[in-house]
Amino acid sequence: MTLNYVRNLVRQRAGIVLDEGKDYLIESRLATVAHEMGLASIEDVIARARTPANTNVESRVVEALTTNETTFFRDMYPFEALRETVIPQLMKARAATRTLRIWSAASSTGQEPYSIAMTLREHFPELKSWRVRILATDLAEGILDRAKLGRYRQIEVNRGLPASLLVKYFTRDGNDWVISPELRAMVDFSAFNLVTDMARYPACDIAFVRNVLIYFDLPTKQAVLRRVREVLAPDGVLFLGGTEGTTLDDVYERVVADKAAFYRPRKSAR
Ligand SMILES: C[S@@+](CC[C@H](N)C(=O)[O-])C[C@H]1O[C@@H](n2cnc3c(N)ncnc32)[C@H](O)[C@@H]1O
Repeated sequence: MTLNYVRNLVRQRAGIVLDEGKDYLIESRLATVAHEMGLASIEDVIARARTPANTNVESRVVEALTTNETTFFRDMYPFEALRETVIPQLMKARAATRTLRIWSAASSTGQEPYSIAMTLREHFPELKSWRVRILATDLAEGILDRAKLGRYRQIEVNRGLPASLLVKYFTRDGNDWVISPELRAMVDFSAFNLVTDMARYPACDIAFVRNVLIYFDLPTKQAVLRRVREVLAPDGVLFLGGTEGTTLDDVYERVVADKAAFYRPRKSAR
């Protein structure tokens, strides 16, 4: 069946599991791709994707089946923990090198890395003289292109972004809001696949791997988390989504900071 081909493709290329209960999702997302490509049906899209020379159509199908839902300061509490606990501790620990590396590993349209950048600018002005890298990566290149623009619709800035930060860090352009060049320059965006690019995970002090593991099966999720552990500094911190856990108690220790939880590598593991 053609939908099986799509299921296998998306699982192989992105680690995303789409069981048969998700057929409606495959059909509706591919109908959009068919429309955009000027094709009559989703079968035509699949036929194109299956043609060996058409890896870009394959990628388009995979990207269409990612879910890019995100908001500024999503769930709020992780950003409070970042501000109250994680950054102050790491600033003490890194006082000699004055270097901080933050990775937003499934950054979607950019709200997550820009929320991190705003947190740093608002609360830690002394970091201006440090070498701070916020690396934002995602599998979906079309989504990354949007993130790089830093251009958001009213409905997007209404979700999670306090009005004071909107007026301070964005300017209005027609119906949209555009992020300030200063904040934009704090974030490096790059295409990166958590499942197929395991050999090149970036070293980091803080990893945001939020609301992406939920799409993977357990072995894939655990492989990603073990690999993050290898590149995370021994005193580094991992943030996951609100409904996600590590299921790797020997590798990570859960830390509760007020209303948020994050993870630290266990000393014994490596
Ligand atoms: C629901 S969004 C989460 C965005 C943000 N981290 C948040 O919590 O709001 C999930 C993102 O994961 C990306 N994604 C899915 N599979 C991926 C993979 N194998 N490698 C990298 N990114 C992936 C999707 O493209 C999508 O943008």
